[in-house]
Amino acid sequence: MMRGLLDRLKDFIIYDADVEFYAKVFPDSIGRKELMRLRKMNRTDLPQVVGIEKASYQFPWSEDIFRDCLNTRYDCWVCELGDDVLGYGIMSMAVGEAHLLNLCVAPTEQKQGIGRKLLEHLISIARRDAEQMFLEVRPSNVNAIALYDSMGFNEIGVRKGYYEAVNGREDALMLALECFK
Ligand SMILES: CC(C)(COP(=O)(O)OP(=O)(O)OC[C@H]1O[C@@H](n2cnc3c(N)ncnc32)[C@H](O)[C@@H]1OP(=O)(O)O)[C@@H](O)C(=O)NCCC(=O)NCCS
Repeated sequence: MMRGLLDRLKDFIIYDADVEFYAKVFPDSIGRKELMRLRKMNRTDLPQVVGIEKASYQFPWSEDIFRDCLNTRYDCWVCELGDDVLGYGIMSMAVGEAHLLNLCVAPTEQKQGIGRKLLEHLISIARRDAEQMFLEVRPSNVNAIALYDSMGFNEIGVRKGYYEAVNGREDALMLALECFK
């Protein structure tokens, strides 16, 4: 009776370390998704982060920009699986306004919920201090727009010629999310 209760408690309270333990001992019992973790980005992640950035954007950020984001203590987060970085998100926070500066998932890892997981996490951080969260997105980036729309972001304006583009500049859509709800 007591042992049954303890076993049920153990099922209920599974810590991260336990998940990793079960993954090693019973590899089939833990899915890949359950092993993905969000954690703060650090300098040693930069080679992988920059690799994903280059594979994902036509006009990628340089390593220096990521380093500046870390130095400025922006909210810089990665989603990792084992030693692999699968995606990252970067947000700045100032005077009650959060600004999503980058959200990116490695091309081979997209469409598994990682982008949404990172964004949900950054929104939860923004909600602690910010009244609104802003972001810019290329009008051509329909996948990202679908994600932001599903998370409650609304279009609030257009920034003319905001982005570099092959033939000059491209406008940005400005989206905002009310955080105090
Ligand atoms: C935008 C991005 C971060 C989404 O990451 P992701 O991990 O693939 O997204 P998710 O699997 O969490 O999907 C979340 C939602 O995004 C939208 N979406 C993502 N990929 C999509 C696709 N290929 N087609 C249509 N919608 C898509 C959907 O609304 C999806 O919700 P659903 O699965 O319920 O349909 C990713 O596509 C990416 O890194 N793109 C390159 C970098 C970039 O453009 N970043 C945004 C800059 S503003």
